[in-house]
Amino acid sequence: MSQFGKYSEYYDLLYKDKDYALEVSYVDTLVKTYKPDSKSILELGCGTGKHALLLTQKGYEITGVDVSSQMLAEAERRKAETGFKNFPKFAEGDVRTVRIPDRFDVILSLFHVMSYQTSNIDILNAFETASLHCKNGGIFIFDVWYGPAVLSQIPETRIKRLSNEKIRVTRLAESTLIAEKNIVEVNYEVWIHPQNSDSSSEVIREKHPMRYFFNPELELLLDRKGFETLRSEEWLSGKEPGLETWGVVFIARKNDSPIS
Ligand SMILES: C[S@@+](CC[C@H](N)C(=O)[O-])C[C@H]1O[C@@H](n2cnc3c(N)ncnc32)[C@H](O)[C@@H]1O
Repeated sequence: MSQFGKYSEYYDLLYKDKDYALEVSYVDTLVKTYKPDSKSILELGCGTGKHALLLTQKGYEITGVDVSSQMLAEAERRKAETGFKNFPKFAEGDVRTVRIPDRFDVILSLFHVMSYQTSNIDILNAFETASLHCKNGGIFIFDVWYGPAVLSQIPETRIKRLSNEKIRVTRLAESTLIAEKNIVEVNYEVWIHPQNSDSSSEVIREKHPMRYFFNPELELLLDRKGFETLRSEEWLSGKEPGLETWGVVFIARKNDSPIS
């Protein structure tokens, strides 16, 4: 079970205000700018499949991979509701090791999946997966927690409260900076209170270590795995990243040199 274990049941509620349609329009614009003839996409860490379904509506042939069977079950349920047949395809796998007998125009990885790859070997292995599945001349689009912003803002304790007709959820996120490893450890405590007072409340505790990255290290790691960094920009706005920019997207092109 990944650290998204039980959390997956509440994931879509916790992120119900996240504008997936806007995000997919932004990604579509990046794809059309950097690899206009793209058709096939491999999404690493597809979660509950929201981006994948919206990209399918836009005509892409998308395969999503995630390590969490619970997140994938939700993605499959969502796909069944839409009536889509061939795409998106979903498969269980770890982004560091998964191998699919296909190459894609675009490798996509959104909402900090790469920041979950916390050690150098983890991120190198994830980039190797991206490289082995990307056609030469194809592109790799991913976002990360951005080091300059993390170190200038230092993560704070945050509380989020949400509800639907069945449950009320309160999530406490307490963060510890492990500066020597470029990691922020986010400790979540999630209280789930049923709206129906006959059922009992539940508490889930999960630890999510997140790595923040800097341009020079990512450019080096991407280069090691056969990618040329084309651009980094603020997620969604497209502005130049700065000390306030927590989420930064990187766009890299696969060249035809061998990976090391
Ligand atoms: C914050 S969620 C993002 C999900 C989805 N991309 C979205 O935007 O809603 C992070 C996802 O990354 C997945 N993940 C983290 N590490 C992974 C790994 N090593 N291999 C595959 N999936 C991974 C988790 O299971 C989870 O679904």
